[in-house]
Amino acid sequence: MMEPFSTTAEGSGPFTPSEVEGSPPFTPSAVEGRVPGAEHLEFRKLSVRFGAHLALDEVSFTVPRHTICAVVGPANSGKSSLLKCINRTLDFEPRARVSGEVLLDGEPVSKVADVLALRRRVGMVFPLPVGLPMSVYDNVAWAPRSRGVKRRADLDVIVEQALRQAVLWDEVKDRLDLLGTRLSGGQQQRLTLARALSMEPEVLCLDEFSIAIDPVTTMKIEEVLLQLKATTTVVLSTNLVQQARRLADQVVFLNASRLVECGDVETMFHHPSVPLTSSYLHGAIG
Ligand SMILES: Nc1ncnc2c1ncn2[C@@H]1O[C@H](COP(=O)(O)OP(=O)(O)OP(=O)(O)O)[C@@H](O)[C@H]1O
Ligand SMILES: [Mg+2]
Repeated sequence: MMEPFSTTAEGSGPFTPSEVEGSPPFTPSAVEGRVPGAEHLEFRKLSVRFGAHLALDEVSFTVPRHTICAVVGPANSGKSSLLKCINRTLDFEPRARVSGEVLLDGEPVSKVADVLALRRRVGMVFPLPVGLPMSVYDNVAWAPRSRGVKRRADLDVIVEQALRQAVLWDEVKDRLDLLGTRLSGGQQQRLTLARALSMEPEVLCLDEFSIAIDPVTTMKIEEVLLQLKATTTVVLSTNLVQQARRLADQVVFLNASRLVECGDVETMFHHPSVPLTSSYLHGAIG
């Protein structure tokens, strides 16, 4: 039986001393109305090392299905490393050593034999665009083609829908043959999002997706993410605490590689158990 939002809760790291002094003993935030067994993801004492450097230190929490989980924390706190464990992107980094476990629907991702299938279930959007050197259309059609969609009319529907969801359609609909790498940085970022969406992933991981995107477009994408929640579990890392507040059902606060506290968004912003959480989320530090 998994614990609700189980945590390792210590405000360690560069901001610790004065903020944490006098803090009450930590108690994990419970989530009202959580359906038992509805967890889509579970992080169990997840640690990541790059050589001697500990990037993530025994982080444990759960993410219920069809919710948005925002991972926040200062630079180098381990947010990207945590996301990369979900679909085993860290397999590409030879120095990375992962211990503990991520469970997807109760199954350890480390035991998955077909990693490509795992990455179709868990889409990933990185902060900097990683465009394939092909047309806008082919970039988005690549994943559906690889899962066997062949008819042009079917691909057209998927490509348009994904580009609309990524708030890019209006800007590229008349030039779908353009090389994707010719788009602006912000457009390429949204193209990367469209590519992830075209896989119709059950979990969508977004690593600072709005870093190269203007605020108006960011708000439009945020609306899409809220709609996507009907069918998709979203885990995003963000340096924008207000974005976490707008979007998230639950917030996970990392500092210096450790989980300080996690819980539902209201509790985290208004009644956190650890003073460091309040200081970070309300801008006193970070
Ligand atoms: N491939 C790598 N090789 C060596 N060290 C790495 C690697 N990737 C990350 N690290 C280190 O692990 C720590 C955590 O990095 P990570 O990218 O997960 O942090 P982050 O919270 O996402 O930071 P940011 O807000 O700057 O994106 C950092 O100290 C970083 O330098
Ligand atoms: Mg990062």
